[in-house]
Amino acid sequence: IVAAPAEIHKEPVIDIAVTGYHSHEAEERSKRSQDQTSAKSVPKLRHRKTRPADTNAGVIKQPDYPRANKSREAVPPHLLKKRDALLPIRKSLPIWPQADTIKSSLKKNNILVLTGETGSGKSTQVPQFLASEPWCTKCIAITQPRRVAAISLARRVAEEMGTFMGGQSPAAKVGYSVRFDNATGPGTKIKFLTEGMLLQEMLRDPVMSQYSAIVVDEVHERSVNVDLILGFLKNLVEQMENGGSSKRKDPLKVVVMSATADVESLVKFFEDSRAPSSSALNAQIERRISTCFVEGRQYPVKTTYLPEPTQDWVESALKIIFQLHYKEPLPGDVLVFLTGQDAIEGLEKLVNDYAEGMDKDLLALPLFAALPQHAQQRIFQSTPFRTRKVILATNIAETSVTVPGVRYVIDCGKSKIKQFRNRLGLESLLVKPISRSAAIQRQGRAGREAAGQCYRLYTEEGFKTMDERTTPEILRCDLSQALLTMKARGVHDVLNFPFLDRPPREALEKALLQLLHLQALSDDGSISDVGLKIAKFPLTPTLGRVLVEAAKPERDCLLDVIDIISALSVENVFLNLVTEERKEEAEEARREIYRREGDHLTLLVTVQRYAEEQTDRKVWCEKHFVSHRAMQNVMNIRKQLQQQCTQLKLLSPDDDQSSSAPSEARSQAILQSVLRGFISNTARLMPDGSYKTLIGNQIVAIHPSSVLFGRKVEAIVFNEFVFTGKAWARGVSAVQLDWVSEVVESVM
Ligand code: CDP
Repeated sequence: IVAAPAEIHKEPVIDIAVTGYHSHEAEERSKRSQDQTSAKSVPKLRHRKTRPADTNAGVIKQPDYPRANKSREAVPPHLLKKRDALLPIRKSLPIWPQADTIKSSLKKNNILVLTGETGSGKSTQVPQFLASEPWCTKCIAITQPRRVAAISLARRVAEEMGTFMGGQSPAAKVGYSVRFDNATGPGTKIKFLTEGMLLQEMLRDPVMSQYSAIVVDEVHERSVNVDLILGFLKNLVEQMENGGSSKRKDPLKVVVMSATADVESLVKFFEDSRAPSSSALNAQIERRISTCFVEGRQYPVKTTYLPEPTQDWVESALKIIFQLHYKEPLPGDVLVFLTGQDAIEGLEKLVNDYAEGMDKDLLALPLFAALPQHAQQRIFQSTPFRTRKVILATNIAETSVTVPGVRYVIDCGKSKIKQFRNRLGLESLLVKPISRSAAIQRQGRAGREAAGQCYRLYTEEGFKTMDERTTPEILRCDLSQALLTMKARGVHDVLNFPFLDRPPREALEKALLQLLHLQALSDDGSISDVGLKIAKFPLTPTLGRVLVEAAKPERDCLLDVIDIISALSVENVFLNLVTEERKEEAEEARREIYRREGDHLTLLVTVQRYAEEQTDRKVWCEKHFVSHRAMQNVMNIRKQLQQQCTQLKLLSPDDDQSSSAPSEARSQAILQSVLRGFISNTARLMPDGSYKTLIGNQIVAIHPSSVLFGRKVEAIVFNEFVFTGKAWARGVSAVQLDWVSEVVESVM
């Protein structure tokens, strides 16, 4: 499998701007290693299958970051020592000399737009700069698009400040809050949280009375949540500047931070305000927004393209990984950008298999959003001597997290993105080429600490044809969750909300219709009781609606539905098997958990059996070809959802978890609850044997991964659409046509 040398095209080189920190030695080394990359002498790899893919080998386990559980607990000396050791590193960050500028801008103005390369120190230092300012009497929130970044940043900032993270002590100054995990306490002054969590807090407390400052980080990613947060904050700051709200008198400072953002449009967005445009007022508005640019630290990165386009990124990546591993000196870790969990797990297994028995160790570490937290954190841990880390990541690692030690980047040039099809009213995940700006971000990850190399698994022509920027999510996704959030926060006229990029009217109308179908809105467009309940869950409105339905006395199957939703919230519970032989083996082993009603009840039984397993859950998973990693995540989500349902009084603490497979009546109640949320994802059998959706008239086929694959039933409800050549329904259950007709008619 090792690449013939000619397969990797060696030019052209793209050197990106070098600002300071230019290391002659590093460049020389880089040059030397480039010359050696011709893989003539790369030895043949032996293929062994002994090591399990999910190996933990080689990682030094670090204890969890200390939390203060007692209210008077003193900070231990080793934390203070660590803090002192980190100070010189902080001082060397490009942002350090800008501290005074940042502080004085916020003294003058309420809004600051701050740009700077990834790694320049924005996320870790800005909150610390602000925390000591006289106006900062309350907490500072810093939003992150991803959980992994929120948690690792909180940990890093706690270390830098020499304080506990979370916990009850007033000395615990740093905390985080992410979906299904909260580590904050009464002493928390700096709180990292995901965008979704901040939005949830905004629903409970529209004036954000708990905070003195909100830092919106990673704005360039332009998630829908960031766009909503910016709209709400713009309104809130304007309201305050116009004389304040009865509920909030002290100032709220807003810092908007980004690696690549278009500063002009952000400034214009915040400036572009109240209607009267007298020059006096304009002058006042102009002063409201400061901008600051931090020049990043970047070493040269040599970039190599493929001579011919390839479809098999996994194989191409594998070749390059081993070439690098043989030829390049240590230390120097490799970061590979892939599209998703399947590709990552496939490559992880191959790397582990091929690396078996080599004298220098190669440690493959996956990184994707659905990975349990402790597994994500492994990428930050140090590796033993003579070991090279290969991090296999989705675009999570593009800008959100800094992985120390990376010198080599391999970029497949694609990512999975959500795409909403207005005409069909369906959202699907599609593998699409990334934008040039994303490719440049990925490439930049190789040059943070020394000169690096970037291998693009596409041609230079391919690079030139990529879009310049990634389209903001709000212009391409299902807006029902965003609109529900807005409605729940009291925005009645959603069409006139201040959007940084206004979504097409058609998409907004589709989303309103979807919310009406779910009964989340009343006929007059205001939020209903059902809608208010759904908005409290960190789930899509569809899944939230399923939960609310299952909690009704006539359905009474909430615990079962929580199990199913938990399993649907991770990417793949069942291992994806490549060879026919293994597939057959798995079919046989899973027979006892498969349910003929379909995938939802199969997932339920899987979760129940796993939860009941007393002896060894890992062994149980291996036996049934189930991903142990995914199941650990499922159990965590399940626990959190149960707690949330108890808090919302949908469950009572003594409701019993049933362990037996559901009776026919309960199965019906479960599927009818699923149906209530997934009305748009229903299809009926046509005389020619195909399935056609009831809303939208789209032909779909049952995905081969479904237990219903190849079966004909009168109607189906399914979890998602996947488009690969044709439209597939994935996560499918058989339902009765009259149940479907009943729900569809009730909303028409
Ligand atoms: O926000 P920005 O990308 O500008 O930088 P940052 O996240 O504040 O990171 C600044 C530096 O802190 C990085 O270059 C890393 O060396 C270090 N850091 C770390 O070691 N561990 C983390 N979890 C986060 C940052």
